[in-house]
Amino acid sequence: MALLTTMATILSLLLLLTFAPMVSLACPHGCKCYSDVPSVHCYYLGITTVPAGFPPNTTLLAIRHCNITTLRRGDFSGMPLLATLYLDWNNISTIELGTFDGLFHLKSLAIGGNRVGKLTPGLFKDNKLTDFDGSDNRIEAIPSGVFTNHSSLTSLILNDNRISMLGTAAFAGLSQLVEIQINDNLIPRLPAEALKGASKLWTLSMPNNAISEIEESAFSDCTSLYNLDLSGNLLTTLEGTLKGLSNLNSLLVSGNRVLEVTNSTLTSLTSLRDCWLDNNKIRKIESGAFKGMGNLNNFYLGNNDLEEMPLNELVGVLKLDLAKNRLQTPPLNMTAAPNLAILMLSGNPLKSLAPSQFASLKSIFEVDLDNVTALREHTMDPRALCGAPTLQSVSMNNNNFTSFPKDLLTCAANITYLILAGNRMAKFKRDDFYNMRNVVQVDFTDNSITNISTLSEALESITFLDYLTLTGNPMVFLPEYVFPAHIEINNLDINDMKLRAVDKDAFEWMGKLQSIDMGKNRLRFIPGKLFANISVEKVNLDGNPWQCDCQMYEFAQWMKNSNMTEKFDVVCEGPETLNGTYLSEVPLKNLTCDCVHYQAPTINTTGSDSHVQAGQRARLVCNVTGCPEAAVIWTTPLGDAFSEDSDDPRFSVLPDGGLEIHKTKITDAGMYICTAINYLGTSQESVSLKVTV
Ligand SMILES: *[C@@H]1O[C@H](CO)[C@@H](O)[C@H](O)[C@H]1NC(C)=O
Ligand SMILES: *[C@@H]1O[C@H](CO)[C@@H](O)[C@H](O)[C@H]1NC(C)=O
Ligand SMILES: *[C@@H]1O[C@H](CO)[C@@H](O)[C@H](O)[C@H]1NC(C)=O
Ligand SMILES: *[C@@H]1O[C@H](CO)[C@@H](O)[C@H](O)[C@H]1NC(C)=O
Ligand SMILES: *[C@@H]1O[C@H](CO)[C@@H](O)[C@H](O)[C@H]1NC(C)=O
Ligand SMILES: *[C@@H]1O[C@H](CO)[C@@H](O)[C@H](O)[C@H]1NC(C)=O
Ligand SMILES: *[C@@H]1O[C@H](CO)[C@@H](O)[C@H](O)[C@H]1NC(C)=O
Ligand SMILES: *[C@@H]1O[C@H](CO)[C@@H](O)[C@H](O)[C@H]1NC(C)=O
Ligand SMILES: *[C@@H]1O[C@H](CO)[C@@H](O)[C@H](O)[C@H]1NC(C)=O
Ligand SMILES: *[C@@H]1O[C@H](CO)[C@@H](O)[C@H](O)[C@H]1NC(C)=O
Ligand SMILES: *[C@@H]1O[C@H](CO)[C@@H](O)[C@H](O)[C@H]1NC(C)=O
Ligand SMILES: *[C@@H]1O[C@H](CO)[C@@H](O)[C@H](O)[C@H]1NC(C)=O
Repeated sequence: MALLTTMATILSLLLLLTFAPMVSLACPHGCKCYSDVPSVHCYYLGITTVPAGFPPNTTLLAIRHCNITTLRRGDFSGMPLLATLYLDWNNISTIELGTFDGLFHLKSLAIGGNRVGKLTPGLFKDNKLTDFDGSDNRIEAIPSGVFTNHSSLTSLILNDNRISMLGTAAFAGLSQLVEIQINDNLIPRLPAEALKGASKLWTLSMPNNAISEIEESAFSDCTSLYNLDLSGNLLTTLEGTLKGLSNLNSLLVSGNRVLEVTNSTLTSLTSLRDCWLDNNKIRKIESGAFKGMGNLNNFYLGNNDLEEMPLNELVGVLKLDLAKNRLQTPPLNMTAAPNLAILMLSGNPLKSLAPSQFASLKSIFEVDLDNVTALREHTMDPRALCGAPTLQSVSMNNNNFTSFPKDLLTCAANITYLILAGNRMAKFKRDDFYNMRNVVQVDFTDNSITNISTLSEALESITFLDYLTLTGNPMVFLPEYVFPAHIEINNLDINDMKLRAVDKDAFEWMGKLQSIDMGKNRLRFIPGKLFANISVEKVNLDGNPWQCDCQMYEFAQWMKNSNMTEKFDVVCEGPETLNGTYLSEVPLKNLTCDCVHYQAPTINTTGSDSHVQAGQRARLVCNVTGCPEAAVIWTTPLGDAFSEDSDDPRFSVLPDGGLEIHKTKITDAGMYICTAINYLGTSQESVSLKVTV
């Protein structure tokens, strides 16, 4: 990051200088010398040593993307005014002691992207470095004496090295230091004296090291510290380490092995706003742990081992993530968190939720209850969400619901976002949404809906939906007038389903549709007028096996005539000669089929089983005549719908159009409907099946 920033600075500088008069005096071969600044730039040269012959008044030297292997004593001694030296992206493995001696004006040094293994104490003894960037090298140690007492340093960046050893006083005496980044190294511990005197340090970033110990008082001089990132280390305790960091705004300790938070662990962090303690092993939080932390806004404790969570003193908390802990009861003492707006309880073995469970959270906006035991096992009180008039968003993913949890939503009149992904809902009842007058986003991703008809009926009680998401349901067909006329839907996501056909009037009445995503389905053609009466702005049609033959003629013609070819990216999969071609690039006259008679499908069901014994296999015939080939959809007496691409353990649609029912049950008896659809028309026949014991 820092490298990129410095690079950008240099590039812009370079642009400016391009227009400055160039001096023709001595300049090393292949380099560019500019009299302004004065600076020298050597880029992409196959040189292995620092060349000689630089103008002696050079103050900025950049040798980047060359093949310098060693920096030697004397390499820069002819440029006593050098203030900025960029040597990144070379092949430097050795820096001789003395290399930078005599450069009394050197302030910025960047050696990122080399193979430097060692920085020797005394290397910078003559310099007044303010910025050092040594990222992406092979540095193994920062002994005391390399940077120690280098009081001009403000920024020190050593990301992506192999530092496993920090000298006891490695960064001591850096009284002007504002930022240290040592991300992605191997540091095992932070010595007590390492940051002595760093009273201006604002950002200390050490994620992804191997720190298991921070010696007590290691941060005691860092009274200005604002951002502290220790995530991805091996800390088991923070006890004592954070004492006195009263300016700290953001604390990241994600992904360590912290075991507990006591009354004294965090209490001096009176300015803390964001705290990440997720992905640790926290088992216990003492009831006075957050005393004085009224500024804390966002608190992440997901993926720990908490069995109990007191909200005492969390007066400023807006967002609290407690997902994936071991909570059997919701947080205690909710009245203590009057500003809590987002409460994440997903993945906890909550045993029950009481009536008006969230009523004391006066600002609650969102509650996440994904994969929660009380919901999976139906032990949540149906009135748990009552008494929380500010609650607007409820997420109940992965709770194994087989039907819409209407009872749990009795108090849902104010809910606008309802997320029920990853359940097993297949059908809906007419009054499922009666309570939900205000819902604007509904997410049913990854449920078991094969047939949209009961959902369409249930949605009749709603007048407006901004988003309806049905991605990942095994739905095979969209019939005419999919949604009721009076519901306004803005965005419809029917991506990644099993759609085999869409009726030509499916989106009739959906005049307010702004976007529709029907990618990754099994559709072969688009009815010519499907989008003709709606002014949808964004359409995704990718990932369908579009057949660019006679079936697409009408649509292609409409697309061309109405100047819509840019909106609809239809990539043909068939016929074979057009695989990969855009429909808009195929001449209309090429969109033909190999049919003797073009005709809408007709169905013959002769030969179907009419009577089987429970447990036996039943086979129903749907013999379709018609050209081009028709899609075949079977609808069962219970209203489930299947096509050849469905993936149901008991119902299979065969390549010849037949339906095979494995291991029939008594409840399979009744009327089955076969629907055959091609672009010329649709036909339906029903077959009745008896199942006896
Ligand atoms: C640097 O050396 C490597 C291999 O020795 C070579 O592939 C590369 O082209 C050289 N770079 C320049 C800029 O000459
Ligand atoms: C740097 O030295 C060159 C001659 O070596 C001179 O032309 C140029 O003006 C000098 N630049 C500055 C800023 O002194
Ligand atoms: C922690 O603080 C709470 C409230 O201030 C107090 O009741 C409790 O006894 C304290 N726990 C310990 C172990 O000191
Ligand atoms: C709940 O929190 C309030 C306010 O922080 C506090 O006064 C009260 O003692 C707490 N109750 C319990 C049982 O910890
Ligand atoms: C649900 O939570 C249980 C633990 O309570 C976990 O084992 C399971 O993987 C989770 N399931 C999902 C779908 O997240
Ligand atoms: C919905 O919000 C209004 C206004 O805030 C409130 O009066 C009403 O009680 C809320 N309804 C429910 C069921 O929470
Ligand atoms: C979901 O419910 C079914 C019974 O309806 C049960 O057999 C299955 O084990 C449940 N799955 C989970 C993950 O709880
Ligand atoms: C089609 O759109 C293009 C630009 O999007 C425009 O230049 C052209 O005039 C339009 N043609 C018709 C027939 O509207
Ligand atoms: C279409 O072409 C892609 C790669 O270009 C290939 O993977 C795919 O199998 C082809 N589809 C058909 C139906 O030939
Ligand atoms: C359209 O058909 C003509 C003649 O049959 C053929 O030459 C041409 O390549 C075809 N165009 C495309 C895009 O397939
Ligand atoms: C249906 O098929 C059967 C034999 O497969 C045939 O005897 C019968 O005439 C067909 N019915 C129609 C209406 O074509
Ligand atoms: C479908 O009908 C055709 C023509 O009537 C017949 O040849 C074929 O055997 C029938 N197929 C099935 C599966 O009944």
